[in-house]
Amino acid sequence: MKRSSDKKTIVSGIQPSGNLHLGNYFGAVQQYKQFIEQGHDCYYFLANYHALTSLRDRNRMLELTRSTAADFVALGLDPGRCSIYLQSDLPEVCELQWLLTTVTPMGLLERCHAYKDKVQQGLSADHGLFAYPVLQAADILIVRADSVPVGQDQRQHIEVTRDIAEYFNTSYGEFFTLPEPFIPESVATVPGRDGRKMSKSYGNAIEIFAPEKQVRQQIYSIVTDSASVEDPKDPDNSILYCILKLFCDSGTLAGWADRFRSGGLGYGELKKEIFSRFLDTFGPMRRRRQELEKEPEYLDAILRDGVAKVREIALPLVKAARDAVGIPNH
Ligand code: ADP
Ligand code: TRP
Repeated sequence: MKRSSDKKTIVSGIQPSGNLHLGNYFGAVQQYKQFIEQGHDCYYFLANYHALTSLRDRNRMLELTRSTAADFVALGLDPGRCSIYLQSDLPEVCELQWLLTTVTPMGLLERCHAYKDKVQQGLSADHGLFAYPVLQAADILIVRADSVPVGQDQRQHIEVTRDIAEYFNTSYGEFFTLPEPFIPESVATVPGRDGRKMSKSYGNAIEIFAPEKQVRQQIYSIVTDSASVEDPKDPDNSILYCILKLFCDSGTLAGWADRFRSGGLGYGELKKEIFSRFLDTFGPMRRRRQELEKEPEYLDAILRDGVAKVREIALPLVKAARDAVGIPNH
């Protein structure tokens, strides 16, 4: 356990909008676990309000919310040592979002990728997508987080959170702590099977809890060039190498890099190796995930306990924020 002076508050969320994949694990959940191990106060939630900006299917939404809760626990987030909760079980986050929207300049949100990309493609964006980063800022500021473990794609959102906190502090006095993103270089962006960022929405994922046959098929469809077995290959230009790297320590990886460069290494062998390492790493978690499927009451209890813990700090924060802006707390 850390000395209390070193103890930090950590928060992060994942949208229950699809099946969790290697990018979610190595880019986010692995770091969530490290912060728990280090004895920090950790708050991890399912961002279901955010998921509504991309998913409009009631049954799928309920199903994914339940399955993502099971994924969190199966991946090793120990509910006894962190708070796991559902964003919508803390609806006060929407009130804080409103207070934050009143200090957020339009231009700040117009520059955010998800909204900007949609508008640039000529598509009409809804207000939820536009306001998405302000809700994310509320998620983070409501617990006065010091650090936010996320993948590289979320860096802009954490910067926007800091900006919004500063706008609020400028208007109402020093109130919010400015959070730092935590993005380890080596796992900042895990590539998908097609070389773009791995994402639930791109159809290029390797899913952690998919049936074994499907995982195998996903790994075997990772895109390669047409080099033959004998050809020397550049590891740094290979999606297979980037994915293999996730499962190797530095010594083992150096051995694979040598084999790439010296030729004689075929893509089939690499895919087999990745599949075998995938099963070694995730096998126990996949088995735990199957058990959890039979324990819905246990998962409900985890979410109930989790929200009770976060409410202890979030509700006083919202009360103080109301007070700071001149809204009475009757
Ligand atoms: P997705 O893009 O698949 O919908 P989310 O947006 O729900 O995933 O992301 C949840 C967390 O996982 C975020 O912290 C995000 O940065 C991280 N993450 C998602 N994809 C990747 C990736 N390919 N590489 C690294 N981190 C990722
Ligand atoms: N926007 C994040 C994503 O798509 C999910 C998220 C919502 C989040 N609220 C957050 C991440 C607060 C970190 C902190 O990945």
